[in-house]
Amino acid sequence: MKKIDISSNINEIKFPLCIMNASGVLCSTERELSNLLDSNSGGVVTKSCTYKPRKGNDLPRYFEWDGGSINSMGLPNFGIKFYLDFLEKKKINKPIFLSISGCSSEENYFLIQKANESSKVTAIELNLSCPNLLEKEDMLGYKFHKFIENIFKFNKKPLGIKFPPYFQDIHIKNVAFILNQFPIFFVTCINSLPNGLFVDIDKESVVIQPKKGFGGIGGSIIKPFALANIHKFYTYLRKDISIIGCGGISSGRDIFEHILCGASVVQIGTQFMKEGISVFERLEKELIFILEKKNYSSLNNFRGKLKNIQ
Ligand code: DHB
Repeated sequence: MKKIDISSNINEIKFPLCIMNASGVLCSTERELSNLLDSNSGGVVTKSCTYKPRKGNDLPRYFEWDGGSINSMGLPNFGIKFYLDFLEKKKINKPIFLSISGCSSEENYFLIQKANESSKVTAIELNLSCPNLLEKEDMLGYKFHKFIENIFKFNKKPLGIKFPPYFQDIHIKNVAFILNQFPIFFVTCINSLPNGLFVDIDKESVVIQPKKGFGGIGGSIIKPFALANIHKFYTYLRKDISIIGCGGISSGRDIFEHILCGASVVQIGTQFMKEGISVFERLEKELIFILEKKNYSSLNNFRGKLKNIQ
């Protein structure tokens, strides 16, 4: 039987397999990050960090049901120093992404500078799409040209950007037009769908405390929006800018769909939260099973090759 290779790469960054965690889920503490480093995920991304540690929003701030999840965590994290110090102590055998999510442009410049100083950080995932900040700042994912220009005046690390979902073709076209002017390595799309609301009919109530119950939606129900954003970015971005697909993956089949739409690597959020660290092994097996059935030997056989109906 043919050997099936589900490794991938983003420029020179090599992933032993194309499946990793999504930022935010079980990647905040030393124990969680150590578990991920020891797991058979293809890479690790840390919880989005800020300069100072943050407690985050009040509890309950996460809720899940069959089809998805809602959260308004409010960026609880131990501050960038904690994550850089942790990585300094560890032996690293796969790509490590430091996710950063400053609450202002200035804070992000500072965090990117700090990440540049660490040899343990493979790449920066700049999160421009946290939907749960209580501060007045607008989400940077919806206005960012000048900001990106400033970053590339000093940044030397591989850097990618995590985007919120966009719902119109022209928005993705415009974002891609800007990104294509800069030496960006990857985009991660999508973050949770912002400002969702889940209702408990027994209690006639919302299910999370912050922001009167409004929060970011993840899980299976957002997959069609993830696939749409991935495929449009794949169409409009320079071919050397890779796409990390995120949103609604809970099976090998979902991963196949993300890759068919153009993703090079995929991230698992809600399903990792539901299932724990063994999710990576299961998904790897399921993806290999599909490739076997289709007689494909690597992701290159089908990446981005979604067909139209003639
Ligand atoms: C949080 C949520 C996000 O979707 C994100 O991208 C970053 C942070 C949070 O609420 O902690």
